Amino acid sequence: MKLFDVYPLYDVTPVKAKGCYIYDDKDTKYLDLYGGHGVISIGHSHDTYVTAISEQVQKMGFYSNSVKNPLQEALAVKLGKFSQCENYDLFLCNSGAEANENALKLASFETGKSKIIAFERAFHGRTSAAVSVTDNPKINAPLNKQHEVVFLPLNDLDSLEKELSTNDIAAVIIEGIQGVGGLDQGSTEFFRGMEKLCFAYGVLLILDEIQSGYGRSGKFFAFQHHDIQPDIITIAKGMGNGFPIGGLLISDKIKASYGLLGTTFGGNHLACTAALSVLDVMEQERLIENVNKVSSHFLNRIKEIEEVIIVKGKGLMLGVTFDFSVSELRKSLIFEEHIFTGGSSNPNLLRILPPLGVTTKQIDVFIDALKRVLEKIENKNKQLN
Ligand SMILES: Cc1ncc(COP(=O)(O)O)c(C=O)c1O
Repeated sequence: MKLFDVYPLYDVTPVKAKGCYIYDDKDTKYLDLYGGHGVISIGHSHDTYVTAISEQVQKMGFYSNSVKNPLQEALAVKLGKFSQCENYDLFLCNSGAEANENALKLASFETGKSKIIAFERAFHGRTSAAVSVTDNPKINAPLNKQHEVVFLPLNDLDSLEKELSTNDIAAVIIEGIQGVGGLDQGSTEFFRGMEKLCFAYGVLLILDEIQSGYGRSGKFFAFQHHDIQPDIITIAKGMGNGFPIGGLLISDKIKASYGLLGTTFGGNHLACTAALSVLDVMEQERLIENVNKVSSHFLNRIKEIEEVIIVKGKGLMLGVTFDFSVSELRKSLIFEEHIFTGGSSNPNLLRILPPLGVTTKQIDVFIDALKRVLEKIENKNKQLN
Protein backbone atom coordinates (compact mmCIF):
# COMPACT_ATOMS: atom_id res chain seq x y z
CA MET A 1 0.00 0.00 0.00
CA LYS A 2 1.14 3.59 -0.57
CA LEU A 3 -0.08 6.85 0.94
CA PHE A 4 -3.06 8.69 -0.57
CA ASP A 5 -1.09 11.59 -1.99
CA VAL A 6 -2.86 14.75 -0.79
CA TYR A 7 -0.02 16.70 0.84
CA PRO A 8 2.73 18.51 -1.10
CA LEU A 9 5.80 17.77 1.07
CA TYR A 10 9.00 19.62 1.84
CA ASP A 11 11.95 17.24 1.62
CA VAL A 12 12.63 17.24 5.39
CA THR A 13 12.16 14.32 7.80
CA PRO A 14 11.93 15.50 11.42
CA VAL A 15 12.74 12.72 13.89
CA LYS A 16 12.95 14.55 17.21
CA ALA A 17 12.11 17.93 18.67
CA LYS A 18 12.66 19.95 21.84
CA GLY A 19 11.32 23.39 22.80
CA CYS A 20 11.35 25.56 19.66
CA TYR A 21 13.65 23.23 17.71
CA ILE A 22 13.13 20.29 15.37
CA TYR A 23 15.92 17.88 14.33
CA ASP A 24 15.84 15.93 11.06
CA ASP A 25 17.17 12.46 10.26
CA LYS A 26 20.61 13.97 9.47
CA ASP A 27 20.59 15.74 12.85
CA THR A 28 20.17 19.18 11.26
CA LYS A 29 18.54 21.58 13.74
CA TYR A 30 15.63 23.78 12.60
CA LEU A 31 14.05 26.73 14.42
CA ASP A 32 10.31 26.08 14.45
CA LEU A 33 8.38 29.34 13.96
CA TYR A 34 5.31 27.49 12.66
CA GLY A 35 4.57 24.90 15.37
CA GLY A 36 3.16 22.42 12.82
CA HIS A 37 0.19 24.70 11.85
CA GLY A 38 0.02 26.49 15.23
CA VAL A 39 -0.33 23.30 17.26
CA ILE A 40 2.76 23.45 19.47
CA SER A 41 1.88 25.69 22.41
CA ILE A 42 4.16 24.79 25.35
CA GLY A 43 7.07 23.64 23.15
CA HIS A 44 8.06 20.32 21.63
CA SER A 45 8.53 17.38 24.04
CA HIS A 46 8.21 19.53 27.17
CA ASP A 47 9.46 17.52 30.19
CA THR A 48 6.28 18.04 32.26
CA TYR A 49 4.13 16.95 29.31
CA VAL A 50 6.27 13.92 28.44
CA THR A 51 6.30 12.72 32.06
CA ALA A 52 2.53 13.22 32.51
CA ILE A 53 1.62 11.36 29.30
CA SER A 54 4.14 8.56 29.96
CA GLU A 55 2.88 8.00 33.50
CA GLN A 56 -0.77 8.07 32.36
CA VAL A 57 -0.30 5.58 29.52
CA GLN A 58 1.30 3.16 31.98
CA LYS A 59 -1.80 3.42 34.18
CA MET A 60 -4.52 3.61 31.52
CA GLY A 61 -4.74 5.18 28.06
CA PHE A 62 -8.41 4.94 27.21
CA TYR A 63 -11.82 3.91 28.29
CA SER A 64 -15.14 4.97 26.80
CA ASN A 65 -17.44 7.81 27.81
CA SER A 66 -19.80 5.37 29.51
CA VAL A 67 -17.84 5.49 32.79
CA LYS A 68 -16.64 8.28 35.10
CA ASN A 69 -13.43 10.01 34.07
CA PRO A 70 -12.20 12.46 36.75
CA LEU A 71 -9.53 13.76 34.35
CA GLN A 72 -12.30 15.27 32.19
CA GLU A 73 -13.75 17.03 35.21
CA ALA A 74 -10.33 18.27 36.31
CA LEU A 75 -9.74 19.63 32.79
CA ALA A 76 -13.11 21.42 32.73
CA VAL A 77 -12.39 23.11 36.09
CA LYS A 78 -8.82 24.07 35.21
CA LEU A 79 -9.68 25.33 31.71
CA GLY A 80 -12.70 27.27 33.00
CA LYS A 81 -10.57 29.08 35.61
CA PHE A 82 -7.52 29.67 33.44
CA SER A 83 -9.53 30.99 30.47
CA GLN A 84 -11.96 32.98 32.68
CA CYS A 85 -14.85 31.08 31.12
CA GLU A 86 -16.21 29.41 34.26
CA ASN A 87 -19.84 29.89 33.17
CA TYR A 88 -19.41 27.51 30.21
CA ASP A 89 -19.66 23.69 30.04
CA LEU A 90 -17.03 21.59 28.27
CA PHE A 91 -17.59 18.93 25.61
CA LEU A 92 -14.46 17.10 24.50
CA CYS A 93 -13.72 15.75 21.02
CA ASN A 94 -10.65 14.98 18.90
CA SER A 95 -9.95 17.77 16.40
CA GLY A 96 -10.79 21.28 15.27
CA ALA A 97 -13.17 20.25 12.51
CA GLU A 98 -15.00 17.96 14.90
CA ALA A 99 -15.35 20.80 17.42
CA ASN A 100 -16.90 23.07 14.78
CA GLU A 101 -19.07 20.26 13.42
CA ASN A 102 -20.52 19.75 16.91
CA ALA A 103 -20.88 23.49 17.52
CA LEU A 104 -22.89 23.94 14.31
CA LYS A 105 -25.00 20.89 15.08
CA LEU A 106 -25.70 22.16 18.60
CA ALA A 107 -26.74 25.58 17.25
CA SER A 108 -29.09 23.86 14.83
CA PHE A 109 -30.59 21.72 17.61
CA GLU A 110 -30.98 24.76 19.83
CA THR A 111 -32.65 27.06 17.27
CA GLY A 112 -34.41 24.45 15.10
CA LYS A 113 -32.86 26.20 12.07
CA SER A 114 -30.13 25.17 9.64
CA LYS A 115 -28.70 28.16 7.79
CA ILE A 116 -25.31 29.46 8.91
CA ILE A 117 -23.55 32.79 8.41
CA ALA A 118 -19.78 32.59 7.91
CA PHE A 119 -17.23 35.10 6.64
CA GLU A 120 -15.21 35.58 3.47
CA ARG A 121 -11.85 33.72 3.56
CA ALA A 122 -12.97 31.72 6.64
CA PHE A 123 -11.43 28.32 7.40
CA HIS A 124 -13.25 26.04 9.85
CA GLY A 125 -12.12 22.51 8.90
CA ARG A 126 -12.77 19.76 6.39
CA THR A 127 -15.72 17.71 7.68
CA SER A 128 -19.27 18.04 6.41
CA ALA A 129 -20.69 21.23 7.94
CA ALA A 130 -17.28 22.60 8.98
CA VAL A 131 -16.02 22.62 5.40
CA SER A 132 -19.31 24.06 4.14
CA VAL A 133 -18.66 27.18 6.27
CA THR A 134 -15.09 27.31 4.90
CA ASP A 135 -14.82 29.85 2.08
CA ASN A 136 -13.04 27.59 -0.41
CA PRO A 137 -15.16 25.90 -3.12
CA LYS A 138 -12.19 23.68 -4.11
CA ILE A 139 -12.38 21.66 -0.88
CA ASN A 140 -16.20 21.46 -0.80
CA ALA A 141 -17.61 18.33 -2.50
CA PRO A 142 -21.22 18.32 -3.79
CA LEU A 143 -22.17 16.56 -0.54
CA ASN A 144 -20.83 19.45 1.56
CA LYS A 145 -22.43 22.07 -0.68
CA GLN A 146 -25.87 20.89 0.44
CA HIS A 147 -25.55 22.90 3.66
CA GLU A 148 -27.16 26.32 3.65
CA VAL A 149 -24.38 28.85 4.18
CA VAL A 150 -23.98 32.52 3.38
CA PHE A 151 -20.54 34.20 3.36
CA LEU A 152 -20.42 37.86 4.37
CA PRO A 153 -17.58 40.38 4.35
CA LEU A 154 -15.82 40.90 7.70
CA ASN A 155 -16.57 44.12 9.55
CA ASP A 156 -19.86 44.85 7.75
CA LEU A 157 -22.59 45.03 10.38
CA ASP A 158 -25.22 46.20 7.87
CA SER A 159 -24.93 43.08 5.71
CA LEU A 160 -24.91 40.95 8.88
CA GLU A 161 -28.13 42.51 10.15
CA LYS A 162 -29.78 42.18 6.73
CA GLU A 163 -29.02 38.45 6.71
CA LEU A 164 -30.02 37.91 10.36
CA SER A 165 -33.33 39.64 9.79
CA THR A 166 -34.41 36.85 7.42
CA ASN A 167 -34.98 34.90 10.67
CA ASP A 168 -33.80 31.60 9.22
CA ILE A 169 -30.27 31.63 10.70
CA ALA A 170 -29.08 29.11 13.32
CA ALA A 171 -25.60 30.48 13.96
CA VAL A 172 -22.88 32.90 13.02
CA ILE A 173 -19.41 31.32 13.03
CA ILE A 174 -16.26 33.43 13.05
CA GLU A 175 -12.56 32.93 13.79
CA GLY A 176 -11.08 35.03 16.62
CA ILE A 177 -8.38 35.90 14.06
CA GLN A 178 -8.47 34.30 10.62
CA GLY A 179 -5.70 31.73 10.21
CA VAL A 180 -5.55 29.97 6.85
CA GLY A 181 -7.38 32.93 5.22
CA GLY A 182 -4.52 35.33 5.99
CA LEU A 183 -4.73 36.84 9.50
CA ASP A 184 -7.60 39.29 8.96
CA GLN A 185 -9.83 39.92 11.96
CA GLY A 186 -13.04 41.61 13.03
CA SER A 187 -12.76 45.01 14.72
CA THR A 188 -13.93 45.44 18.33
CA GLU A 189 -16.91 47.44 17.01
CA PHE A 190 -17.79 44.56 14.69
CA PHE A 191 -17.48 41.82 17.35
CA ARG A 192 -19.57 43.82 19.84
CA GLY A 193 -22.19 44.70 17.23
CA MET A 194 -22.35 41.06 16.11
CA GLU A 195 -22.85 39.87 19.71
CA LYS A 196 -25.76 42.30 20.15
CA LEU A 197 -27.35 41.40 16.81
CA CYS A 198 -27.08 37.64 17.42
CA PHE A 199 -28.76 38.07 20.80
CA ALA A 200 -31.52 40.25 19.32
CA TYR A 201 -32.31 37.72 16.56
CA GLY A 202 -31.96 34.59 18.74
CA VAL A 203 -28.98 33.33 16.74
CA LEU A 204 -26.01 31.58 18.36
CA LEU A 205 -22.56 33.14 18.07
CA ILE A 206 -19.79 30.54 17.61
CA LEU A 207 -16.23 31.72 18.12
CA ASP A 208 -13.72 29.46 16.40
CA GLU A 209 -10.63 29.80 18.63
CA ILE A 210 -9.05 26.62 17.28
CA GLN A 211 -6.00 28.51 16.06
CA SER A 212 -6.31 31.89 17.82
CA GLY A 213 -7.04 30.44 21.27
CA TYR A 214 -4.82 29.05 24.02
CA GLY A 215 -2.86 32.26 24.54
CA ARG A 216 -1.68 32.68 20.96
CA SER A 217 -3.18 36.16 20.55
CA GLY A 218 -1.79 37.48 23.85
CA LYS A 219 -5.01 36.72 25.76
CA PHE A 220 -6.33 33.21 26.41
CA PHE A 221 -8.94 33.71 23.67
CA ALA A 222 -8.66 36.27 20.87
CA PHE A 223 -12.31 37.34 21.35
CA GLN A 224 -11.32 38.49 24.88
CA HIS A 225 -9.59 41.48 23.22
CA HIS A 226 -13.13 42.65 22.37
CA ASP A 227 -14.88 41.91 25.68
CA ILE A 228 -17.72 39.77 24.30
CA GLN A 229 -19.36 36.50 25.45
CA PRO A 230 -19.91 34.03 22.60
CA ASP A 231 -22.49 31.25 22.97
CA ILE A 232 -20.03 28.53 21.91
CA ILE A 233 -16.23 28.62 21.72
CA THR A 234 -14.35 25.92 19.79
CA ILE A 235 -10.80 24.85 20.65
CA ALA A 236 -8.17 22.36 19.43
CA LYS A 237 -4.58 22.95 18.13
CA GLY A 238 -2.67 24.38 21.16
CA MET A 239 -4.90 22.50 23.59
CA GLY A 240 -2.92 19.25 23.39
CA ASN A 241 0.48 20.54 22.15
CA GLY A 242 0.28 17.87 19.43
CA PHE A 243 -1.83 15.26 21.18
CA PRO A 244 -5.12 15.16 19.22
CA ILE A 245 -7.83 16.80 21.29
CA GLY A 246 -10.53 19.39 20.63
CA GLY A 247 -13.43 20.81 22.54
CA LEU A 248 -16.42 23.10 22.79
CA LEU A 249 -17.05 25.59 25.58
CA ILE A 250 -20.84 25.84 25.71
CA SER A 251 -22.71 28.71 27.38
CA ASP A 252 -24.74 27.51 30.36
CA LYS A 253 -27.89 28.86 28.68
CA ILE A 254 -27.66 25.82 26.33
CA LYS A 255 -28.93 22.72 28.12
CA ALA A 256 -27.40 19.26 27.69
CA SER A 257 -29.38 16.05 27.30
CA TYR A 258 -28.17 12.46 27.03
CA GLY A 259 -27.11 11.54 23.52
CA LEU A 260 -27.23 15.12 22.15
CA LEU A 261 -23.49 14.93 21.32
CA GLY A 262 -21.09 12.01 21.56
CA THR A 263 -17.76 10.50 20.52
CA THR A 264 -15.76 7.32 21.13
CA PHE A 265 -12.28 8.78 21.58
CA GLY A 266 -13.09 12.34 22.69
CA GLY A 267 -11.89 13.18 26.22
CA ASN A 268 -9.94 9.96 26.71
CA HIS A 269 -7.52 9.64 29.63
CA LEU A 270 -4.39 10.31 27.63
CA ALA A 271 -5.82 13.32 25.80
CA CYS A 272 -7.05 14.88 29.06
CA THR A 273 -3.65 14.32 30.66
CA ALA A 274 -1.95 16.05 27.73
CA ALA A 275 -4.40 18.98 27.91
CA LEU A 276 -4.02 19.30 31.70
CA SER A 277 -0.25 19.43 31.47
CA VAL A 278 -0.47 22.09 28.72
CA LEU A 279 -2.47 24.31 31.09
CA ASP A 280 -0.06 23.60 33.99
CA VAL A 281 2.93 24.64 31.90
CA MET A 282 1.17 27.71 30.48
CA GLU A 283 0.47 28.84 34.03
CA GLN A 284 3.86 27.95 35.55
CA GLU A 285 5.89 29.45 32.72
CA ARG A 286 3.59 32.48 32.28
CA LEU A 287 3.47 31.80 28.58
CA ILE A 288 0.78 34.38 27.78
CA GLU A 289 3.03 37.11 29.24
CA ASN A 290 5.84 35.77 27.07
CA VAL A 291 3.58 35.94 23.98
CA ASN A 292 3.02 39.66 24.57
CA LYS A 293 6.70 40.37 25.26
CA VAL A 294 8.01 38.46 22.25
CA SER A 295 5.27 39.82 19.98
CA SER A 296 6.27 43.44 20.75
CA HIS A 297 9.89 42.55 20.07
CA PHE A 298 8.93 40.90 16.76
CA LEU A 299 6.85 43.90 15.68
CA ASN A 300 9.74 46.27 16.49
CA ARG A 301 12.41 44.26 14.75
CA ILE A 302 10.36 43.50 11.62
CA LYS A 303 10.29 47.28 10.97
CA GLU A 304 13.96 46.92 9.93
CA ILE A 305 12.85 45.01 6.84
CA GLU A 306 11.78 47.48 4.18
CA GLU A 307 10.27 44.82 1.90
CA VAL A 308 7.55 44.17 4.52
CA ILE A 309 4.27 45.88 3.64
CA ILE A 310 2.19 45.18 6.72
CA VAL A 311 2.12 42.75 9.66
CA LYS A 312 -1.33 41.35 10.42
CA GLY A 313 -2.62 39.45 13.46
CA LYS A 314 -1.93 39.65 17.18
CA GLY A 315 0.43 38.13 19.74
CA LEU A 316 2.28 35.20 18.19
CA MET A 317 -0.30 34.69 15.45
CA LEU A 318 1.25 36.97 12.86
CA GLY A 319 1.21 37.36 9.09
CA VAL A 320 4.03 39.28 7.42
CA THR A 321 3.01 40.52 3.96
CA PHE A 322 5.19 41.31 0.95
CA ASP A 323 4.41 42.44 -2.61
CA PHE A 324 5.54 39.05 -3.99
CA SER A 325 4.76 35.38 -3.39
CA VAL A 326 6.54 34.01 -0.30
CA SER A 327 6.86 30.47 -1.64
CA GLU A 328 10.57 30.83 -2.58
CA LEU A 329 11.23 32.76 0.63
CA ARG A 330 9.80 29.93 2.75
CA LYS A 331 11.87 27.35 0.90
CA SER A 332 15.06 29.36 1.38
CA LEU A 333 14.27 29.85 5.06
CA ILE A 334 13.92 26.09 5.50
CA PHE A 335 16.77 24.81 3.36
CA GLU A 336 19.37 27.58 3.74
CA GLU A 337 18.58 29.02 7.18
CA HIS A 338 16.83 26.02 8.78
CA ILE A 339 13.78 27.96 9.93
CA PHE A 340 10.16 26.79 9.54
CA THR A 341 7.49 29.39 8.76
CA GLY A 342 3.99 29.02 7.30
CA GLY A 343 1.95 30.09 4.30
CA SER A 344 -1.75 30.93 3.93
CA SER A 345 -4.30 31.33 1.16
CA ASN A 346 -2.77 34.79 0.60
CA PRO A 347 0.34 33.85 -1.44
CA ASN A 348 2.17 37.01 -0.31
CA LEU A 349 1.84 36.33 3.42
CA LEU A 350 4.39 34.57 5.65
CA ARG A 351 2.69 33.04 8.69
CA ILE A 352 4.45 33.06 12.07
CA LEU A 353 2.99 30.69 14.71
CA PRO A 354 5.87 29.68 17.00
CA PRO A 355 5.63 27.75 20.26
CA LEU A 356 4.45 30.25 22.90
CA GLY A 357 7.75 30.07 24.81
CA VAL A 358 9.83 31.33 21.87
CA THR A 359 12.48 33.83 22.97
CA THR A 360 13.39 37.30 21.70
CA LYS A 361 16.82 35.87 20.76
CA GLN A 362 15.15 33.28 18.53
CA ILE A 363 13.19 36.08 16.86
CA ASP A 364 16.49 37.93 16.31
CA VAL A 365 17.87 34.82 14.59
CA PHE A 366 14.82 34.84 12.30
CA ILE A 367 15.06 38.56 11.46
CA ASP A 368 18.76 38.23 10.53
CA ALA A 369 18.00 35.14 8.43
CA LEU A 370 15.10 36.90 6.70
CA LYS A 371 17.38 39.80 5.77
CA ARG A 372 19.96 37.42 4.27
CA VAL A 373 17.36 35.44 2.33
CA LEU A 374 15.65 38.56 0.96
CA GLU A 375 19.00 39.93 -0.17
CA LYS A 376 19.84 36.69 -1.97
CA ILE A 377 16.44 36.62 -3.69
CA GLU A 378 16.88 40.24 -4.75
CA ASN A 379 20.36 39.57 -6.17
CA LYS A 380 19.06 36.53 -8.05
CA ASN A 381 16.19 38.56 -9.52
CA LYS A 382 18.64 41.31 -10.58
CA GLN A 383 20.78 38.76 -12.43
CA LEU A 384 17.73 37.36 -14.22
CA ASN A 385 16.56 40.83 -15.35
C1 LIG B 1 -9.55 28.30 12.62
C2 LIG B 1 -9.54 26.82 12.35
N1 LIG B 1 -10.66 26.12 12.53
C3 LIG B 1 -10.70 24.78 12.31
C4 LIG B 1 -9.58 24.10 11.88
C5 LIG B 1 -9.65 22.62 11.64
O1 LIG B 1 -8.93 21.94 12.60
P1 LIG B 1 -8.47 20.40 12.36
O2 LIG B 1 -7.46 20.43 11.27
O3 LIG B 1 -7.93 19.99 13.71
O4 LIG B 1 -9.69 19.65 12.00
C6 LIG B 1 -8.40 24.81 11.66
C7 LIG B 1 -7.19 24.11 11.16
O5 LIG B 1 -6.30 24.69 10.59
C8 LIG B 1 -8.37 26.21 11.89
O6 LIG B 1 -7.27 26.93 11.67
